[in-house]
Amino acid sequence: MGRFIIEGGRKLGGRLRVQGAKNSALPILAATVAVGRPCVIHNCPSLTDINSTLEILKALGCEVHRSGGSVSVDSGRMIMNDIPDELMREMRSSIVFLGALLTRTGEAHICAPGGCDIGMRPIDLHFFAMEKLGVSLTEEYGRICCKCAKTKGAKITLSFPSVGATENIILASLRCSGVTTIINAAREPEIVDLAMFLNSCGARISGAGESTVYIEGVERLYPTQYTVMPDRIAACTFMTAAAVTGSDLLLEEVAPNHIAPVLQCFETCGCKIVTSSNRLRITAPDRLNSMGTIRTMPYPGFPTDCQSLIMTMASTAVGTTVICENIFENRFRHAAELNRMGADISVHDKIAVVNGVDRLQGAAVCAHDLRAGAALTVAGLCAQGCTTVDNIHFIDRGYEFFEKNLNYIGAKIKRID
Ligand code: EPZ
Repeated sequence: MGRFIIEGGRKLGGRLRVQGAKNSALPILAATVAVGRPCVIHNCPSLTDINSTLEILKALGCEVHRSGGSVSVDSGRMIMNDIPDELMREMRSSIVFLGALLTRTGEAHICAPGGCDIGMRPIDLHFFAMEKLGVSLTEEYGRICCKCAKTKGAKITLSFPSVGATENIILASLRCSGVTTIINAAREPEIVDLAMFLNSCGARISGAGESTVYIEGVERLYPTQYTVMPDRIAACTFMTAAAVTGSDLLLEEVAPNHIAPVLQCFETCGCKIVTSSNRLRITAPDRLNSMGTIRTMPYPGFPTDCQSLIMTMASTAVGTTVICENIFENRFRHAAELNRMGADISVHDKIAVVNGVDRLQGAAVCAHDLRAGAALTVAGLCAQGCTTVDNIHFIDRGYEFFEKNLNYIGAKIKRID
């Protein structure tokens, strides 16, 4: 259980390369199980969630080698379809092994997944979809046994465009008989990345990134090499760090078109943004303006994963910002921590009202989840004096070399393990 000690009040600057996307790399690595042939995945960030995924792959009997950002996985001689409980509970995205295992072996034995405590996070939509594909589900002593020799193409309408459920349906349908159609599918860029990886293996997925996705079952899949897209939330995190410190920062290997709704907020609060196809420069004013009302929504709306970061920006902006969290019911725990630093935030159910203050003060705060940890670290960068952020193991789940990258652009952060 490490902590960061941050000396606030320093300007940042320079250029930074953005890591590969965690939420793309995780399902793509799980998908290698369905492929059954050697795959090499490039631009995999170095994160504890990625390590957990590699452990699951090894536990299933895959051959896994990592060299820098490239991971090779050969699931050809995979022997297991049972994921140990302690590995399932390490993170939420372990649930996408369900679809991959069903395609590969016709069976999956799992328990409920873990992950950041940001809400109830049920998996009913995943199971509803699996049953539509002809999968039989039985539960015994908290373990779920899923079986289906070959999934049957089906029309599946999701009541909410769940990212994980969309990924699981795609993975479970790769070799289905006929065509699976997902109505009200999640449209996140990570879905498109997964589909592009799978299509490079010979899958037939169309419509990814739109509300209706079609998966035509194929007989076999082939070896491939694939490069994971840039992490849009990491990019926004570094932009926030520049914004709250009045800095000028150039980000490289970003996909500006994936963060359009967030860019709008940065512009509203007075930052100048210049983009090219894979670069983004942010120049922040000395003091930010408030951002009106921000509502988190499924993509292409404002991402819930940036909500805590925007709250940090709103904390020291001129005026009031209202934030409405529509995706997760318990994702405001950073508000109380920011208030310890002198912020003026009141939370009423899913609404947070943030009255900007002149300055945050360094304090001892605690991260309760990954993005909250990032937002509190960023708050520490602009606070007067010293801030300590506890529970940084959450940050290590999603940010590669976080404090090293921030120090590289001018911050002063020390990690205490
Ligand atoms: C993915 O989680 C991301 N995680 C999350 O990233 C992200 O916040 C979330 O999508 C929304 O964008 C990964 O990709 C590994 P959902 P996921 O299923 O798939 C409800 C981060 O910080 N729901 O779209 O779990 C659910 O409770 C994170 O990197 C059901 O009710 O998200 C939530 O309210 C954390 N039943 C909403 O849907 C279900 O069966 C969205 O969840 C599934 C979901």
